[in-house]
Amino acid sequence: MLYSLLRPLLFNLNPETAHSLTLGALKNAHRFGLLANHTVTCQHRNIMGLNFPNSIGLAAGLDKNGEHINTLATLGFGFIEIGTTTPRPQTGNQRPRVFRIPQAGAIINRLGFNNHGVDELIINVKRSNYKGVLGINIGKNADTPIENAVDDYLICLRKVYCYASYVAINISSPNTLNLRQLQDNEALDYLLDTLKIEQKKLSDQHGKYTPLVVKIAPDLETLQIQTISNLLIKHRIDGVIATNSTLSRTGVENLPYAKETGGLSGAPLTQRANKIIRQLYGILQGAMPIIGVGGVMSAIDAKEKMDAGASLVQIYTGLIYRGPSLIREAVQAIHT
Ligand SMILES: Cc1cc2nc3c(=O)[nH]c(=O)nc-3n(C[C@H](O)[C@H](O)[C@H](O)COP(=O)(O)O)c2cc1C
Repeated sequence: MLYSLLRPLLFNLNPETAHSLTLGALKNAHRFGLLANHTVTCQHRNIMGLNFPNSIGLAAGLDKNGEHINTLATLGFGFIEIGTTTPRPQTGNQRPRVFRIPQAGAIINRLGFNNHGVDELIINVKRSNYKGVLGINIGKNADTPIENAVDDYLICLRKVYCYASYVAINISSPNTLNLRQLQDNEALDYLLDTLKIEQKKLSDQHGKYTPLVVKIAPDLETLQIQTISNLLIKHRIDGVIATNSTLSRTGVENLPYAKETGGLSGAPLTQRANKIIRQLYGILQGAMPIIGVGGVMSAIDAKEKMDAGASLVQIYTGLIYRGPSLIREAVQAIHT
Protein backbone atom coordinates (compact mmCIF):
# COMPACT_ATOMS: atom_id res chain seq x y z
CA MET A 1 0.00 0.00 0.00
CA LEU A 2 2.67 2.47 1.12
CA TYR A 3 4.86 1.44 -1.78
CA SER A 4 2.15 2.10 -4.37
CA LEU A 5 1.91 5.66 -2.99
CA LEU A 6 5.66 6.18 -3.01
CA ARG A 7 6.33 4.58 -6.39
CA PRO A 8 5.36 7.57 -8.57
CA LEU A 9 7.73 9.77 -6.54
CA LEU A 10 10.55 7.26 -6.78
CA PHE A 11 9.97 6.73 -10.50
CA ASN A 12 10.45 10.48 -11.00
CA LEU A 13 14.02 10.08 -9.80
CA ASN A 14 16.95 8.59 -11.63
CA PRO A 15 16.87 4.79 -10.94
CA GLU A 16 20.16 4.72 -9.04
CA THR A 17 19.13 7.68 -6.86
CA ALA A 18 15.76 6.02 -6.15
CA HIS A 19 17.60 2.80 -5.27
CA SER A 20 19.92 4.48 -2.74
CA LEU A 21 17.11 6.58 -1.30
CA THR A 22 14.78 3.60 -0.81
CA LEU A 23 17.43 1.43 0.82
CA GLY A 24 18.59 4.33 2.99
CA ALA A 25 15.02 5.06 4.12
CA LEU A 26 14.37 1.37 4.84
CA LYS A 27 17.61 1.17 6.83
CA ASN A 28 16.61 4.15 8.99
CA ALA A 29 13.06 2.82 9.44
CA HIS A 30 14.57 -0.47 10.57
CA ARG A 31 17.05 1.23 12.90
CA PHE A 32 14.28 3.17 14.64
CA GLY A 33 12.03 0.13 14.90
CA LEU A 34 9.51 1.48 12.40
CA LEU A 35 9.72 -1.50 10.08
CA ALA A 36 7.48 -4.40 11.02
CA ASN A 37 9.17 -7.76 10.65
CA HIS A 38 7.41 -9.58 7.84
CA THR A 39 9.11 -12.92 8.31
CA VAL A 40 7.01 -15.37 6.34
CA THR A 41 7.58 -18.87 7.57
CA CYS A 42 5.85 -21.82 5.93
CA GLN A 43 6.84 -25.44 5.71
CA HIS A 44 10.62 -25.21 5.99
CA ARG A 45 12.43 -26.74 3.04
CA ASN A 46 15.78 -28.43 3.13
CA ILE A 47 17.60 -27.75 -0.13
CA MET A 48 21.36 -28.19 -0.62
CA GLY A 49 21.48 -29.08 3.07
CA LEU A 50 20.19 -25.58 3.96
CA ASN A 51 17.01 -24.78 5.83
CA PHE A 52 14.82 -22.30 3.89
CA PRO A 53 11.86 -20.79 5.84
CA ASN A 54 10.20 -20.09 2.49
CA SER A 55 11.12 -20.45 -1.19
CA ILE A 56 11.24 -16.78 -2.23
CA GLY A 57 14.63 -15.09 -2.22
CA LEU A 58 16.23 -11.81 -3.15
CA ALA A 59 18.26 -12.04 -6.38
CA ALA A 60 21.84 -10.78 -6.63
CA GLY A 61 22.59 -7.18 -7.53
CA LEU A 62 20.28 -5.26 -5.24
CA ASP A 63 22.63 -5.36 -2.26
CA LYS A 64 26.01 -5.68 -3.94
CA ASN A 65 28.05 -4.94 -0.80
CA GLY A 66 25.90 -6.62 1.84
CA GLU A 67 25.14 -3.23 3.42
CA HIS A 68 21.42 -3.83 3.89
CA ILE A 69 21.13 -7.45 5.01
CA ASN A 70 19.31 -6.78 8.30
CA THR A 71 16.82 -4.45 6.64
CA LEU A 72 16.15 -6.76 3.70
CA ALA A 73 15.64 -9.64 6.12
CA THR A 74 12.58 -7.90 7.57
CA LEU A 75 10.77 -7.95 4.19
CA GLY A 76 9.90 -11.64 4.37
CA PHE A 77 12.45 -13.29 2.09
CA GLY A 78 13.25 -16.96 2.67
CA PHE A 79 16.83 -16.24 1.61
CA ILE A 80 19.00 -13.33 0.51
CA GLU A 81 21.74 -13.27 -2.11
CA ILE A 82 24.25 -10.41 -1.92
CA GLY A 83 26.90 -9.40 -4.49
CA THR A 84 28.15 -9.67 -7.13
CA THR A 85 31.38 -8.97 -5.32
CA THR A 86 34.85 -8.91 -6.89
CA PRO A 87 38.35 -9.22 -5.36
CA ARG A 88 39.04 -5.49 -5.61
CA PRO A 89 36.63 -2.52 -5.42
CA GLN A 90 35.57 -1.08 -8.80
CA THR A 91 33.32 1.75 -9.90
CA GLY A 92 31.53 -0.04 -12.74
CA ASN A 93 30.44 1.60 -15.98
CA GLN A 94 29.75 5.29 -16.53
CA ARG A 95 26.35 6.70 -15.54
CA PRO A 96 23.61 6.66 -16.62
CA ARG A 97 23.66 2.87 -16.56
CA VAL A 98 20.22 1.83 -15.28
CA PHE A 99 17.05 2.51 -17.30
CA ARG A 100 13.42 1.81 -16.38
CA ILE A 101 10.96 0.80 -19.09
CA PRO A 102 7.67 0.99 -17.12
CA GLN A 103 5.48 0.34 -20.18
CA ALA A 104 6.96 -3.18 -20.23
CA GLY A 105 7.66 -3.71 -16.49
CA ALA A 106 11.34 -3.90 -17.37
CA ILE A 107 14.79 -2.57 -16.53
CA ILE A 108 17.94 -2.39 -18.62
CA ASN A 109 21.15 -2.17 -16.59
CA ARG A 110 24.82 -2.06 -17.47
CA LEU A 111 26.19 -1.41 -13.99
CA GLY A 112 29.25 -3.61 -14.56
CA PHE A 113 29.75 -5.03 -11.04
CA ASN A 114 30.13 -1.67 -9.27
CA ASN A 115 31.07 -2.78 -5.75
CA HIS A 116 33.34 -2.03 -2.79
CA GLY A 117 35.28 -5.29 -3.06
CA VAL A 118 35.05 -8.58 -1.21
CA ASP A 119 36.86 -7.43 1.97
CA GLU A 120 34.28 -4.73 2.67
CA LEU A 121 31.44 -7.14 1.88
CA ILE A 122 32.77 -9.52 4.54
CA ILE A 123 33.00 -6.73 7.12
CA ASN A 124 29.32 -5.95 6.38
CA VAL A 125 28.28 -9.60 6.66
CA LYS A 126 30.09 -9.92 10.00
CA ARG A 127 28.31 -6.78 11.22
CA SER A 128 24.84 -8.06 10.32
CA ASN A 129 22.95 -10.25 12.76
CA TYR A 130 21.03 -12.13 10.05
CA LYS A 131 20.80 -15.83 10.81
CA GLY A 132 18.94 -16.94 7.67
CA VAL A 133 20.20 -18.36 4.38
CA LEU A 134 22.74 -15.96 2.85
CA GLY A 135 24.05 -16.50 -0.68
CA ILE A 136 27.18 -14.62 -1.70
CA ASN A 137 27.51 -14.05 -5.44
CA ILE A 138 31.09 -13.75 -6.75
CA GLY A 139 32.59 -12.49 -10.01
CA LYS A 140 35.73 -11.11 -11.59
CA ASN A 141 37.13 -7.59 -11.78
CA ALA A 142 36.69 -5.85 -15.12
CA ASP A 143 40.45 -5.37 -15.54
CA THR A 144 41.33 -9.02 -14.87
CA PRO A 145 41.97 -10.66 -18.26
CA ILE A 146 39.41 -13.36 -18.97
CA GLU A 147 42.24 -15.97 -19.15
CA ASN A 148 42.90 -15.24 -15.44
CA ALA A 149 39.25 -15.12 -14.38
CA VAL A 150 39.60 -18.31 -12.33
CA ASP A 151 42.05 -16.52 -10.01
CA ASP A 152 39.42 -13.90 -9.14
CA TYR A 153 36.78 -16.54 -8.38
CA LEU A 154 39.30 -18.39 -6.20
CA ILE A 155 40.18 -15.23 -4.25
CA CYS A 156 36.50 -14.51 -3.62
CA LEU A 157 35.60 -18.12 -2.82
CA ARG A 158 38.35 -18.38 -0.20
CA LYS A 159 37.32 -15.10 1.43
CA VAL A 160 33.56 -15.62 1.53
CA TYR A 161 33.51 -19.38 2.15
CA CYS A 162 32.98 -19.26 5.93
CA TYR A 163 30.39 -16.48 5.83
CA ALA A 164 28.14 -17.76 3.04
CA SER A 165 25.33 -20.31 3.25
CA TYR A 166 26.02 -20.89 -0.46
CA VAL A 167 28.33 -19.26 -3.00
CA ALA A 168 26.94 -18.27 -6.41
CA ILE A 169 29.41 -18.32 -9.29
CA ASN A 170 28.30 -15.57 -11.64
CA ILE A 171 29.44 -16.33 -15.19
CA SER A 172 26.45 -14.75 -16.88
CA SER A 173 26.46 -10.99 -16.39
CA PRO A 174 26.23 -9.33 -19.82
CA ASN A 175 28.06 -6.24 -18.53
CA THR A 176 31.57 -7.57 -17.98
CA LEU A 177 33.48 -8.05 -21.21
CA ASN A 178 33.75 -11.73 -22.25
CA LEU A 179 32.40 -13.00 -18.90
CA ARG A 180 29.82 -15.19 -20.61
CA GLN A 181 32.65 -17.02 -22.42
CA LEU A 182 33.13 -18.82 -19.10
CA GLN A 183 29.95 -20.74 -19.96
CA ASP A 184 31.78 -22.39 -22.89
CA ASN A 185 32.69 -26.05 -22.54
CA GLU A 186 36.45 -25.96 -21.91
CA ALA A 187 36.47 -22.76 -19.86
CA LEU A 188 33.61 -23.98 -17.66
CA ASP A 189 35.15 -27.42 -17.20
CA TYR A 190 38.37 -25.82 -15.93
CA LEU A 191 36.60 -23.24 -13.74
CA LEU A 192 34.34 -25.81 -12.06
CA ASP A 193 37.16 -28.29 -11.60
CA THR A 194 39.32 -25.65 -9.89
CA LEU A 195 36.51 -24.36 -7.69
CA LYS A 196 35.42 -27.85 -6.59
CA ILE A 197 39.00 -28.73 -5.60
CA GLU A 198 39.15 -25.50 -3.57
CA GLN A 199 35.74 -26.19 -2.03
CA LYS A 200 37.00 -29.59 -0.83
CA LYS A 201 40.11 -27.99 0.72
CA LEU A 202 38.08 -25.27 2.42
CA SER A 203 35.52 -27.77 3.64
CA ASP A 204 38.24 -29.90 5.27
CA GLN A 205 39.95 -26.81 6.69
CA HIS A 206 36.82 -25.26 8.22
CA GLY A 207 34.70 -28.35 8.88
CA LYS A 208 31.86 -26.69 6.96
CA TYR A 209 30.49 -27.58 3.53
CA THR A 210 29.37 -24.48 1.62
CA PRO A 211 27.40 -25.38 -1.53
CA LEU A 212 28.45 -23.93 -4.88
CA VAL A 213 25.81 -22.86 -7.37
CA VAL A 214 26.33 -21.55 -10.90
CA LYS A 215 24.32 -18.67 -12.35
CA ILE A 216 23.66 -18.92 -16.08
CA ALA A 217 22.38 -16.64 -18.84
CA PRO A 218 19.00 -16.83 -20.55
CA ASP A 219 20.62 -16.39 -23.97
CA LEU A 220 21.72 -20.00 -24.45
CA GLU A 221 20.92 -22.48 -27.22
CA THR A 222 19.61 -25.95 -26.35
CA LEU A 223 23.00 -27.50 -27.10
CA GLN A 224 24.76 -25.07 -24.75
CA ILE A 225 22.28 -25.89 -21.97
CA GLN A 226 23.00 -29.57 -22.53
CA THR A 227 26.77 -28.96 -22.35
CA ILE A 228 26.51 -26.80 -19.22
CA SER A 229 24.20 -29.31 -17.52
CA ASN A 230 26.60 -32.17 -18.24
CA LEU A 231 29.44 -30.20 -16.66
CA LEU A 232 27.36 -29.23 -13.62
CA ILE A 233 26.61 -32.92 -13.07
CA LYS A 234 30.19 -34.05 -13.79
CA HIS A 235 31.59 -31.63 -11.19
CA ARG A 236 28.83 -32.31 -8.66
CA ILE A 237 27.81 -28.67 -8.49
CA ASP A 238 25.20 -28.14 -5.78
CA GLY A 239 22.70 -26.00 -7.68
CA VAL A 240 22.06 -23.77 -10.67
CA ILE A 241 20.52 -20.29 -10.84
CA ALA A 242 18.57 -19.60 -14.03
CA THR A 243 18.69 -16.88 -15.18
CA ASN A 244 20.58 -13.61 -15.31
CA SER A 245 19.29 -10.68 -17.43
CA THR A 246 19.02 -11.01 -21.22
CA LEU A 247 20.63 -9.35 -24.23
CA SER A 248 17.37 -9.83 -26.14
CA ARG A 249 15.07 -6.85 -26.65
CA THR A 250 11.94 -8.86 -27.42
CA GLY A 251 9.03 -7.25 -25.62
CA VAL A 252 10.53 -3.75 -25.46
CA GLU A 253 11.01 -3.02 -29.16
CA ASN A 254 10.40 0.64 -29.99
CA LEU A 255 10.05 1.65 -26.33
CA PRO A 256 12.26 4.39 -24.87
CA TYR A 257 15.69 3.08 -23.76
CA ALA A 258 15.24 -0.24 -25.61
CA LYS A 259 18.42 0.45 -27.57
CA GLU A 260 20.53 1.04 -24.45
CA THR A 261 23.30 -1.53 -23.99
CA GLY A 262 22.94 -3.89 -21.04
CA GLY A 263 20.90 -6.70 -19.57
CA LEU A 264 17.12 -6.61 -19.77
CA SER A 265 15.19 -7.89 -16.74
CA GLY A 266 11.57 -7.97 -15.61
CA ALA A 267 8.40 -8.97 -17.45
CA PRO A 268 9.94 -9.45 -20.93
CA LEU A 269 12.29 -12.05 -19.40
CA THR A 270 9.65 -14.23 -17.71
CA GLN A 271 8.99 -16.78 -20.46
CA ARG A 272 12.58 -16.83 -21.72
CA ALA A 273 13.81 -17.74 -18.21
CA ASN A 274 11.02 -20.31 -17.78
CA LYS A 275 12.05 -22.01 -21.02
CA ILE A 276 15.63 -22.37 -19.75
CA ILE A 277 14.39 -23.72 -16.40
CA ARG A 278 12.20 -26.30 -18.16
CA GLN A 279 15.11 -27.42 -20.34
CA LEU A 280 17.46 -27.65 -17.35
CA TYR A 281 14.89 -29.60 -15.37
CA GLY A 282 14.46 -32.06 -18.22
CA ILE A 283 18.20 -32.69 -18.44
CA LEU A 284 19.19 -32.54 -14.77
CA GLN A 285 16.36 -34.85 -13.66
CA GLY A 286 16.68 -33.71 -10.05
CA ALA A 287 20.49 -34.06 -9.94
CA MET A 288 20.58 -30.60 -8.34
CA PRO A 289 18.05 -27.91 -7.43
CA ILE A 290 17.25 -25.06 -9.80
CA ILE A 291 16.85 -21.54 -8.43
CA GLY A 292 14.45 -19.86 -10.86
CA VAL A 293 14.79 -16.12 -11.50
CA GLY A 294 13.73 -13.73 -14.24
CA GLY A 295 10.57 -11.70 -14.57
CA VAL A 296 8.70 -12.71 -11.42
CA MET A 297 6.25 -9.80 -11.32
CA SER A 298 3.30 -11.59 -9.69
CA ALA A 299 2.39 -14.55 -7.51
CA ILE A 300 1.39 -16.46 -10.66
CA ASP A 301 4.85 -15.88 -12.16
CA ALA A 302 6.44 -17.31 -9.01
CA LYS A 303 4.18 -20.38 -9.17
CA GLU A 304 5.06 -20.85 -12.86
CA LYS A 305 8.77 -20.92 -12.00
CA MET A 306 8.08 -23.77 -9.55
CA ASP A 307 5.91 -25.56 -12.12
CA ALA A 308 8.77 -25.24 -14.63
CA GLY A 309 11.04 -27.14 -12.22
CA ALA A 310 12.50 -24.57 -9.84
CA SER A 311 12.93 -25.50 -6.17
CA LEU A 312 13.47 -21.89 -5.13
CA VAL A 313 12.61 -18.54 -6.76
CA GLN A 314 14.37 -15.18 -6.68
CA ILE A 315 13.08 -11.67 -7.38
CA TYR A 316 14.70 -8.38 -8.31
CA THR A 317 12.87 -6.25 -10.91
CA GLY A 318 9.43 -7.29 -9.58
CA LEU A 319 10.39 -5.69 -6.29
CA ILE A 320 11.05 -2.36 -8.01
CA TYR A 321 7.66 -2.40 -9.76
CA ARG A 322 5.49 -4.07 -7.14
CA GLY A 323 7.21 -3.35 -3.82
CA PRO A 324 7.62 -5.76 -0.90
CA SER A 325 3.98 -6.99 -0.98
CA LEU A 326 5.05 -9.14 -3.95
CA ILE A 327 7.18 -11.23 -1.59
CA ARG A 328 4.25 -12.21 0.62
CA GLU A 329 1.96 -12.85 -2.36
CA ALA A 330 4.56 -15.10 -3.98
CA VAL A 331 5.20 -17.02 -0.77
CA GLN A 332 1.48 -17.61 -0.31
CA ALA A 333 1.02 -18.75 -3.92
CA ILE A 334 3.83 -21.26 -3.65
CA HIS A 335 3.16 -22.59 -0.20
CA THR A 336 -0.61 -22.96 -0.23
C1 LIG B 1 20.00 -3.30 -11.56
C2 LIG B 1 20.35 -4.77 -11.59
C3 LIG B 1 21.60 -5.20 -11.13
C4 LIG B 1 21.92 -6.56 -11.15
N1 LIG B 1 23.15 -6.96 -10.67
C5 LIG B 1 23.43 -8.29 -10.64
C6 LIG B 1 24.66 -8.74 -10.09
O1 LIG B 1 25.48 -7.98 -9.58
N2 LIG B 1 24.92 -10.09 -10.11
C7 LIG B 1 24.03 -10.99 -10.63
O2 LIG B 1 24.30 -12.19 -10.60
N3 LIG B 1 22.85 -10.58 -11.14
C8 LIG B 1 22.54 -9.27 -11.16
N4 LIG B 1 21.34 -8.86 -11.68
C9 LIG B 1 20.45 -9.86 -12.27
C10 LIG B 1 19.37 -10.31 -11.28
O3 LIG B 1 19.93 -10.94 -10.16
C11 LIG B 1 18.39 -11.29 -11.98
O4 LIG B 1 19.09 -12.46 -12.34
C12 LIG B 1 17.77 -10.70 -13.24
O5 LIG B 1 17.51 -9.33 -13.08
C13 LIG B 1 16.46 -11.39 -13.59
O6 LIG B 1 15.53 -11.32 -12.54
P1 LIG B 1 14.39 -10.18 -12.42
O7 LIG B 1 13.67 -10.15 -13.74
O8 LIG B 1 13.54 -10.59 -11.27
O9 LIG B 1 15.11 -8.89 -12.17
C14 LIG B 1 20.99 -7.51 -11.67
C15 LIG B 1 19.74 -7.06 -12.11
C16 LIG B 1 19.41 -5.72 -12.08
C17 LIG B 1 18.05 -5.28 -12.56
